[in-house]
Amino acid sequence: MTRKLFIKTYGCQMNAYDSARIADVMAPHGYSLVDDAMGADMIVLNTCHIREKAAEKVYSELGRLRGVKEARAAQGSHLLIAVAGCVAQAEGAEIIARAPLVDIVVGPQVYHRLPEMVAKIDRGAAQALDTEFPAIDKFDNLPETKSAPGPSAFLTVQEGCDKFCTFCVVPYTRGAEYSRPVAQIEVEARHLADLGVKELTLLGQNVNAYHGVGPDGEIWGLGRLIRRLAKIDGLLRLRYMTSHPRDMDDDLIATHADEAKLMPYLHLPVQSGSDQVLEAMNRGHTVDDYKRLADRIRRARSDIMLSSDFIVGFPGETDADFQATMSLVREIGYAQAFSFKYSPRPGTPAACARKQIADDTKAERLSALQDLLREQSDAFARRCVGEAIDVLFERPGRHAGQLVGRSPYLQAVHARAPDTLIGQVKRVRITEVKTNSLAGELSQPCAVVN
Ligand code: SAH
Ligand code: SF4
Ligand code: F3S
Repeated sequence: MTRKLFIKTYGCQMNAYDSARIADVMAPHGYSLVDDAMGADMIVLNTCHIREKAAEKVYSELGRLRGVKEARAAQGSHLLIAVAGCVAQAEGAEIIARAPLVDIVVGPQVYHRLPEMVAKIDRGAAQALDTEFPAIDKFDNLPETKSAPGPSAFLTVQEGCDKFCTFCVVPYTRGAEYSRPVAQIEVEARHLADLGVKELTLLGQNVNAYHGVGPDGEIWGLGRLIRRLAKIDGLLRLRYMTSHPRDMDDDLIATHADEAKLMPYLHLPVQSGSDQVLEAMNRGHTVDDYKRLADRIRRARSDIMLSSDFIVGFPGETDADFQATMSLVREIGYAQAFSFKYSPRPGTPAACARKQIADDTKAERLSALQDLLREQSDAFARRCVGEAIDVLFERPGRHAGQLVGRSPYLQAVHARAPDTLIGQVKRVRITEVKTNSLAGELSQPCAVVN
């Protein structure tokens, strides 16, 4: 009997990876993935706890699902609802208390046990909850992906975090830092390449802290892992995220210089441009350290572009601190960046700090910062016009005869191109900047492949 599984993913790319693996785990038990919640037999909300709004979204979604579940029960069938991810880990039993319609709560380290939990519910149990951090590696228990995710895929190589930035829930929801062994990652990467994947983004909450056991029994850093994976024939592009400035070692920087498959685009969150704030955040580096690091990376690979995350309105942040962030942004120059109002999270040290910043001040700072960041990303997009850029075509565009792909800098690029070019890297001359993408034309002849 086939049952329909719908997964709604919130939060970061690691959750996107986990959602794909949850589908792999459920597939042998007769669950096939659908892209519409209507008519699904099982709904998984793979949740994020990073900011209050992210967590609250889950409860409003559960509120909406209550009616659907009741309607289904009136017809004599059971709609199974599972909450996975970081809200599941952080709030566990509270979720069931607040939303009794939830059948299953499963943490990010134990979703390989989901089939047992589903079986328990099928046998008549009221609810099932598992938010352990088991000693046995979940990755050893995950089945191989059967279906091709498309030309671009994620691969989690590292999980968890030991940094304990004072604003952040990740060390609590994802646990201690852990690196998968090189051989295990390589098997997964080769399998994905066999399925037609051309671009692999290596994921970790702290991916550049990667220190996995290599086939030689030594501890390998991320640079070495990337050079190994770059040898896989089918793979044309490699990326990694998210990195912490403290963990960018010389070998990884050198990999940017030496490894052509490694894309010249690096997400390197700085959070703030003020030393006082960085210290209060427990980031473990100064503004000057970050600037020197950006210089070293740019010296290694001159065409590299940086992106970042910023938090405004961290407790105690003064106007001068905020202006220091604006100055740092002007000095570094980002191709793209994400910025957020500080959101106090339960159990984190900064949430108890006395000097919380008023929401209207946060809103003003966020809007000024976002204006500046938008100016920079728009200017970067305009600079691309007239350039010939390599694009990995991923899927058909909205208009017939058009494909959409990604530039090395993750910009969406549209061009008229035949479907046969999906999964190939072609050179495209950029002709126009659109709202959230670039438009271009295939350069002639279209034989330039990375
Ligand atoms: N591991 C990554 C970040 C993971 S969280 C790193 O160290 O950079 C992604 C982003 O969410 C962070 O970079 C930060 O900018 C933001 N963030 C995390 N906690 C937050 C909070 N409590 N309030 C607002 N933004 C937050
Ligand atoms: Fe959170 Fe800091 Fe760890 Fe990033 S490094 S996941 S921001 S605690
Ligand atoms: Fe959110 Fe968890 Fe990722 S809190 S950002 S889903 S690690």
